[in-house]
Amino acid sequence: MPRIGDIAPNFQSMTTFGKIDFHEYINGKWALLFSHPADFTPVCTTEMSGFALDKDFFDQHDTKLIGLSIDSIHSHIAWVNNVREKTGVLLDFPIIADIDMSVAKLYGMLQPGESETAAVRAVFFMDPNKKIRLIMYYPLNVGRNMEEIKRALQALQTADANACAMPLNWKPGEKVIVPPPKTMEDLDKRLNSGLEMVDFYLAKRTL
Ligand code: BEZ
Repeated sequence: MPRIGDIAPNFQSMTTFGKIDFHEYINGKWALLFSHPADFTPVCTTEMSGFALDKDFFDQHDTKLIGLSIDSIHSHIAWVNNVREKTGVLLDFPIIADIDMSVAKLYGMLQPGESETAAVRAVFFMDPNKKIRLIMYYPLNVGRNMEEIKRALQALQTADANACAMPLNWKPGEKVIVPPPKTMEDLDKRLNSGLEMVDFYLAKRTL
């Protein structure tokens, strides 16, 4: 089961956009790989539509999307077409047909205590170096929160760009945490820095 900090395992799969090599698909961008339990199910339809409706946000944040469920390519195509016909929303990202469960097993998306045949609702966040940076797992009966998915992505990207960390409930535009000092010299600099400080180890700054 991949963990945070691992390089995302590669795979080749049939998707609604044709055959894809995952690492080639990421191609130096951020990527979200997300699973859902099954096509033609209500919660999954709301979630996959949510990713589609926020596609512009993910494009603007240099992030590729790719979905997965343990269904055939024929089922995926029929479902994508049905969602388009019924709601006008096009699921405009590849969805992996993982009928042999190989990718679901590779990514720990098959959690037998929850279901032996359907993937849980996972989201893997990959950076442009293909490193896994954040993992979410939700059960079958609770849909994910798109605002949190977007916030987490922005937090990761902002932390990387500014060498900082994000406090509880951080949102874009809010103050960030300056990493704690690692030497006595840094400690003295910190104490004289004028930063907003609870104590030397908890200091914040505006970006
Ligand atoms: C759903 O997406 O609605 C769903 C799928 C599998 C189990 C429970 C709910």
